[in-house]
Amino acid sequence: MGSITLEKVSKSFGSTSVIPEIDLEINDGEFVVFVGPSGCGKSTLLRMIAGLEDLSGGRIVIDGKDMSNEAPAKRGLSMVFQSYALYPHMSVYQNIAFPLKMDGQEKSAIDKKVKDAAHILNLTNYLDRRPGQLSGGQRQRVAIGRAIVRQPKAFLFDEPLSNLDAALRGNMRLEISDLHHQLKTTMIYVTHDQVEAMTMADKIVVLNAGRIEQVGSPLELYKSPKNVFVAGFIGSPRMNLVEGPAAAKHNAVTLGVRPEHVQISKTAGLWKGTVGVTEHLGSDTFIHVQTENTGKITVRTDGDFATEHGQSVYLTPDPSRLHLFDANGQAI
Ligand SMILES: Nc1ncnc2c1ncn2[C@@H]1O[C@H](COP(=O)(O)OP(=O)(O)OP(=O)(O)O)[C@@H](O)[C@H]1O
Ligand SMILES: [Mg+2]
Repeated sequence: MGSITLEKVSKSFGSTSVIPEIDLEINDGEFVVFVGPSGCGKSTLLRMIAGLEDLSGGRIVIDGKDMSNEAPAKRGLSMVFQSYALYPHMSVYQNIAFPLKMDGQEKSAIDKKVKDAAHILNLTNYLDRRPGQLSGGQRQRVAIGRAIVRQPKAFLFDEPLSNLDAALRGNMRLEISDLHHQLKTTMIYVTHDQVEAMTMADKIVVLNAGRIEQVGSPLELYKSPKNVFVAGFIGSPRMNLVEGPAAAKHNAVTLGVRPEHVQISKTAGLWKGTVGVTEHLGSDTFIHVQTENTGKITVRTDGDFATEHGQSVYLTPDPSRLHLFDANGQAI
């Protein structure tokens, strides 16, 4: 079991309030991602759940039990950090076995758990190596292995992939998702990368300046962002946000439309503009258009749409895919 409830959890460092007050329900077995810009309080919140940081107010309940004042070791959670925090002088085997040894477990029981974890993580052939003889991705897998053997109620990940290159990050993303399917253990995963959030989460928690802006599934956040912040944060390239007459026409202050929901034409359309930079990704092309009346608009189109810098084009947003926001930035 690994349900975690945050009740009116707050955090201040001295007189600076970092997390005003957060309520959140995490169900057993769920993969929850905390996402938000740098400094919004993701790590602080995770560290409070882990017990590495005191609460200034509120309660943290794990499996129905108030754990707010329990020591980290008593909470039954395993944390995996960005800096793998491996012991350099120990082998992979010894690194993974370490928490079990500290726990005073039997040698044979330790051996089975270490080998099972190594098997799950494709580390069987590396058990004799030292961390210095491994790639970044392999080191991260050792750190995860060390977390797995403790059979925690929940895993807490703090930006575990940000030291890896893009290709490896993509692989590890799949591996962690796969691991979650195998273990079915609650996972809380902190990242500032909305792609990681979208691809891995059952439930995304969008944080901004210590507040929850929205909680929902990846597609809920993509389709129905509750406010301008979430609209701009989830989705890549980011949603076009337009103010002025184009929005006022719909009785809104801000009109949002995602790049994939704007049609581009060389002959006719709603917004006239000039092509600026074009980014060819092969599968997609992102065209940045300076429009006459609605500012800069990014369009996502298929890989074969040919444009030239300075060329005149027309853009038409899909009327069924518009997002409208009021003066407070709230979705209408
Ligand atoms: N020990 C501390 N003393 C004072 N302020 C702190 C302390 N730790 C964190 N903060 C502040 O709390 C805020 C939240 O920090 P936190 O590390 O939780 O952000 P984050 O969302 O994890 O950011 P990042 O994406 O950069 O890791 C920041 O403004 C930070 O400066
Ligand atoms: Mg952080």
